[in-house]
Amino acid sequence: MSNEFSKQLLTWYQKNGRDLPWRFKGGAHPDPYVVLVSELMLQQTTVKTVLSYFDRFINRFPTVESLASASQEDVNLYWQGLGYYTRARSLKQSAEMIVKDFKGVFPHQKEDVLKLKGLGPYTISSFLALAFNAPETVVDGNVIRIICRLYHLTSPQDEIMAQIRKKAESLTDKQNAADYASAIMDLGATVCTPKKPLCDKCPVRKFCTSKDLPDLEKIPVRKKTTKKVFNGYVYIIKNKEGKVLIRKRTEKGLLSGLYEFPWSEERLFKNAKETNQSVCHIFTHINMNLKICELKSDSVFSDGFFVLPQELDKYAFSTLMQKVIKKQGGFESRPAKDEK
Ligand code: ADE
Repeated sequence: MSNEFSKQLLTWYQKNGRDLPWRFKGGAHPDPYVVLVSELMLQQTTVKTVLSYFDRFINRFPTVESLASASQEDVNLYWQGLGYYTRARSLKQSAEMIVKDFKGVFPHQKEDVLKLKGLGPYTISSFLALAFNAPETVVDGNVIRIICRLYHLTSPQDEIMAQIRKKAESLTDKQNAADYASAIMDLGATVCTPKKPLCDKCPVRKFCTSKDLPDLEKIPVRKKTTKKVFNGYVYIIKNKEGKVLIRKRTEKGLLSGLYEFPWSEERLFKNAKETNQSVCHIFTHINMNLKICELKSDSVFSDGFFVLPQELDKYAFSTLMQKVIKKQGGFESRPAKDEK
């Protein structure tokens, strides 16, 4: 089946595949830097969201050298809104390694790519396939869904990953690994979708043992996980001059190096006025809800500092904190940003 399957898929892709700015139909992308940036952005973020950040980022940092020599603060500003900021740090560290350790030549052997930062097995395969047409099989959420449906695999996905990977590998067209990787991702994103899959439009429907089934949306099967809920408070502390207090997160851990308004689980300030506004954000393992409180104070709290509201856009804030800014009407000055 594998030859026939990939032939049908690739023919469909040539006509129906998405044109994306990091894409090159017909083989490897000529610039591995573009692939690396896109792959890091696309980890945990949708194509639609990445599209609204990608060109701006590449225009500002057009080469691996320009990224390597930029400050992390500047890179964070251009990453702002994409979330999961560890990726921005990994990307910059990788750029530095490529310039310094690999003398500006992108590594294309797996053992060298493994030395770069922030790339897991999926991203490495995807990078090697898309940037060098290396005979790699990409196994992302789209591919898992397609394989489970093709072979009607209904055990919990986590328990059958080895089987899924093996089947995905056997279908891959290793000669055309770049196009094949893009094609199967596009099939998952536009036809074999999680909800309301378009079986009648599927170029490989004749190979599929689940096509048109009424409960197709239930495949792949996932075990339910419950997320923790965090309820707390975020404080807009303004001094007499109308400046607002912000602080920088440490360089380690969640949202490292980004700026924020102070927040806490318990009410920290008795005299802070609760507004009727709150923000919520869903992180990978936690649902966070913060009630916005306002406070007038001239004392510098924690390791924070006061800035003019119109200067807030010089600092990179997490998406959660951007929501706070938005709720405050952008402090009447900061341009509204696209939200994830
Ligand atoms: N998700 C991860 N990598 C991707 C890519 N190159 N194209 C579309 N979606 C992706």
